[in-house]
Amino acid sequence: MFPKCLTVPLLFAATLISSAFSTRSIGDLVSQSRSYVCVIPSSYASSNGTADDSPAIQATFTKCAQDSVIVFSEGVDYNVFSPVTATNLSNVAIAVQGNLHLPQNITYVQSVVNGTSYAAGTGYWFTFSGPQIDFVGSDNVTTGWIYSYGQAWWDANTYPGTGLDNRPHLMSFNTTNGTMQYFKSSKPIGWNVQLLGSNITVTDTIIDAYSTTGSFPFNTDGFDVTATDVKILNSIIYNADDAVAVQSGSHNILFQGGTIGYQTHGMSIGSLGQNQASFANVSNIHFDDITVVNGVYASRFKSWIGGQGLAQNITWSNIRIYNVTFPIFVTQTYINQGGSQTQLENGTVTDRPNNSTVNMQNFTWANFTGTINTFQPGDGSCVTDPCWYNVGLPNLTHTEAIIIECNANNSCQDFQLSDINVFPQTMAQPRVICIDAEAELNLDLGFVCANGTYVPTL
Ligand SMILES: *[C@@H]1O[C@H](CO)[C@@H](O)[C@H](O)[C@H]1NC(C)=O
Ligand SMILES: *[C@@H]1O[C@H](CO)[C@@H](O)[C@H](O)[C@H]1NC(C)=O
Ligand SMILES: *[C@@H]1O[C@H](CO)[C@@H](O)[C@H](O)[C@H]1NC(C)=O
Ligand SMILES: *[C@@H]1O[C@H](CO)[C@@H](O)[C@H](O)[C@H]1NC(C)=O
Ligand SMILES: *[C@@H]1O[C@H](CO)[C@@H](O)[C@H](O)[C@H]1NC(C)=O
Ligand SMILES: *[C@@H]1O[C@H](CO)[C@@H](O)[C@H](O)[C@H]1NC(C)=O
Ligand SMILES: *[C@@H]1O[C@H](CO)[C@@H](O)[C@H](O)[C@H]1NC(C)=O
Ligand SMILES: *[C@@H]1O[C@H](CO)[C@@H](O)[C@H](O)[C@H]1NC(C)=O
Ligand SMILES: *[C@@H]1O[C@H](CO)[C@@H](O)[C@H](O)[C@H]1NC(C)=O
Ligand SMILES: *[C@@H]1O[C@H](CO)[C@@H](O)[C@H](O)[C@H]1NC(C)=O
Ligand SMILES: *[C@@H]1O[C@H](CO)[C@@H](O)[C@H](O)[C@H]1NC(C)=O
Ligand SMILES: *[C@@H]1O[C@H](CO)[C@@H](O)[C@H](O)[C@H]1NC(C)=O
Repeated sequence: MFPKCLTVPLLFAATLISSAFSTRSIGDLVSQSRSYVCVIPSSYASSNGTADDSPAIQATFTKCAQDSVIVFSEGVDYNVFSPVTATNLSNVAIAVQGNLHLPQNITYVQSVVNGTSYAAGTGYWFTFSGPQIDFVGSDNVTTGWIYSYGQAWWDANTYPGTGLDNRPHLMSFNTTNGTMQYFKSSKPIGWNVQLLGSNITVTDTIIDAYSTTGSFPFNTDGFDVTATDVKILNSIIYNADDAVAVQSGSHNILFQGGTIGYQTHGMSIGSLGQNQASFANVSNIHFDDITVVNGVYASRFKSWIGGQGLAQNITWSNIRIYNVTFPIFVTQTYINQGGSQTQLENGTVTDRPNNSTVNMQNFTWANFTGTINTFQPGDGSCVTDPCWYNVGLPNLTHTEAIIIECNANNSCQDFQLSDINVFPQTMAQPRVICIDAEAELNLDLGFVCANGTYVPTL
């Protein structure tokens, strides 16, 4: 039987909205071009939270795939016990006013995810694809959440594991001319949102991957971006991997405003160049006006040893840090020590020849203020000795404001650093580690490239 899906034309919708919805934003979403309102039914209350609503959700997305407003109603809970895949959407608003719940049975979720692969574009709990998709959560902070119950997954991981097998990614959002507003994710199992496509504006995100027990929430990336012309504005992201990771094929990305923290790995470019046969390409990326609290990195570039490609015109500006281990970090010899399900591309992870580099050009770091984590550096992701984030760094003192490791003496070009006012918690002189950012290729580098005390030159 087809689930009760209210499919109503605009005229009737207007009445329906005034009577059934107090939230004005649903009404705002209905327009001449989106005249159908499809309210997803829920059996949550009638089943005392036991029934699976995903068949009804899937059916609604199938039936209302075009020119519609699909509504998860306010005050209503939905069990999403199976992945929802809607890849033929066109001009659809998804209003998440109620709360969505993933299954709490870890074994069951693992069995669903088993055999899927991020590199092959599968393994997401929600897959939305098509032009003009607007994901609209609730501006009311108490509702419109996606609850993934990741805490139990983090707690079940035992040292030296780096996360359970068969963890789903939460959402793939692949659109052109789309938006995402008030995306709210509570205790994600792992990765949150993969953005794909073009011209996407994301605003007012809240991601809460804070572990209440001290276990480590591995791979809880906020946004993984493989897209062009993207703005991500006013985010709150408390997680334990990249808050934002900009990947190959991304151009014109702005990440601006908000606070990231907890055990975050910050604002990252990469990792690039895992597949050694493929040319990585990233340009015109700007991270601006962000507060970073705790966390391992604030700004980070990571490309694989033996990768190839070009990253150019990348800026981090107006970054406030508090207790961050590595405020400014560049590595061109990255290796991801996680399991196969964390691998972005198909490239091999061991015994890679150092036969090329992802080159970096026109990188700017401007106006950093705050404190470097000297007293309790790093985070709970450390399961190797030496720790993955300390590998290859000579004489690390955790008073370093800047760490730049170029793979070759011509692989870093036109770097500029200015107004870097970050200080160790000891209030000692900040230091730098700087390898092969050659002076002739970096005329306005802004500091002396050597290992030792930070000496600004601008
Ligand atoms: C409803 O579920 C709650 C929590 O799962 C349980 O404690 C309660 O007994 C259930 N109520 C009924 C009527 O089954
Ligand atoms: C959890 O899921 C597994 C696999 O589907 C199943 O065998 C098991 O009975 C479930 N456990 C509970 C408590 O429902
Ligand atoms: C995944 O599937 C493989 C092959 O069917 C099986 O051997 C393995 O036990 C499964 N793992 C989990 C966690 O379900
Ligand atoms: C990785 O390999 C799989 C299987 O061969 C293929 O389907 C997928 O497209 C590849 N992914 C990338 C990113 O190259
Ligand atoms: C994203 O959507 C476009 C257009 O619908 C499609 O061609 C492309 O394959 C999708 N990308 C992925 C990774 O699914
Ligand atoms: C926010 O949602 C809660 C229910 O989750 C409701 O009780 C409260 O009135 C809402 N607040 C506003 C300002 O709408
Ligand atoms: C980007 O998408 C918005 C709708 O979200 C649209 O109004 C705008 O015209 C698009 N911009 C471009 C350059 O395509
Ligand atoms: C995106 O919006 C632009 C500007 O309105 C329009 O030219 C373009 O066709 C739209 N693209 C899609 C895929 O809707
Ligand atoms: C480097 O070596 C790898 C593995 O042999 C190969 O796939 C890649 O094409 C080589 N890169 C260059 C730039 O020659
Ligand atoms: C560099 O990127 C910024 C966006 O971050 C863009 O406005 C600017 O035009 C780009 N500069 C060049 C030379 O392409
Ligand atoms: C600094 O961050 C570390 C790692 O997250 C944490 O253990 C420590 O409590 C923080 N210290 C302060 C003073 O906030
Ligand atoms: C890179 O920097 C150089 C020197 O400042 C400048 O001439 C060039 O236009 C810049 N290129 C890009 C792509 O930003």
